[in-house]
Amino acid sequence: MGREYRINQEIRDSLAETSLSRSDLIMPYFVNDSSHSIQISAMPGILNHSIASLIPAVQEQLKFGIDSILLFGSTENQKNKTNDGSYAYHEKGITQAAVRALKKEFGNDLTIITDVCICSYTNHGHCGVTQGENILNDETLPILAKIAKSHADAGADIISPSDMMDSRVQFISDYLKEEINQKIPLFSYAAKFASSYYGPFREAADSSPKFGDRKSYQMDYRNSNEAMSEIKEDLDQGADGIIFKPALAYLDILARASKKFDTRKLAYNVSGEYSMVKAAGMKGWINEKEIIIENLFCMKRAGATDIITYHALEVAKNNWIE
Ligand code: PBG
Ligand code: ZN
Repeated sequence: MGREYRINQEIRDSLAETSLSRSDLIMPYFVNDSSHSIQISAMPGILNHSIASLIPAVQEQLKFGIDSILLFGSTENQKNKTNDGSYAYHEKGITQAAVRALKKEFGNDLTIITDVCICSYTNHGHCGVTQGENILNDETLPILAKIAKSHADAGADIISPSDMMDSRVQFISDYLKEEINQKIPLFSYAAKFASSYYGPFREAADSSPKFGDRKSYQMDYRNSNEAMSEIKEDLDQGADGIIFKPALAYLDILARASKKFDTRKLAYNVSGEYSMVKAAGMKGWINEKEIIIENLFCMKRAGATDIITYHALEVAKNNWIE
């Protein structure tokens, strides 16, 4: 292959190995239980919505051809936060209410994935129940299962546990099988690394750990073999898709898993990755539009079947892709 294969745009287009379309993109949303939306300071253009402001935002993205969302609920009321985060499965909690409102408005035109975790609802900010400084695994599992059920009851299409406790995919799918008679897909954050790229998200979801860090449950970024075994375990436990997170600095993990596992692979272009592109773009230091598209194509090239990205709406709205 020489330069004749890239001599003009038509030839390059016809030989491109990778494509990117609206149907590949999933837009994440923050929703909280206050009556107003809040601008997230480190994520220009992204709001922490009230239910009232979420509906028109989703309406707009549907108009531009993005039909999937990932939903994160959080609470503004510190009284809702406890050691076990049980408010997360409250039938009238924020995620449950938002899912009901969205399904009422958009029905099956919209695919709703919900994030299942307790860190926005625990008074210590961890993704598991704590005892002293320890994060308890098995004590957390029934809570996650109840959250998953409450999301399914509200009408969520896909459930995504992001906590990184061991055996949670098995536990949740067994519980759902028993409690509701319907199979609901589980996308597992199996390849989730302990990362500082989640900083802006934690500010938005008010979910920063109050002591220590998440390194005893999220993976060590020095490792890749560990991610392969986590993925295998979650697939064996019945996961229907695997989320890779963060995306950009971790494309080797995605590419390696793509060779090994024939499943749906979702790259999560996380909050800190978004913030860095926006900050440099606002300074005029990079060509923001070109870099966004390049990043998304590279995730597809590495093997992503879908991309969860805060850029989804702007990409679709500005017709940066087909
Ligand atoms: C919660 C959760 C986090 C993200 C998704 N689910 C934060 C964390 O693990 O601390 C990060 C997403 C992002 O940064 O955009 N378990
Ligand atoms: Zn969490």
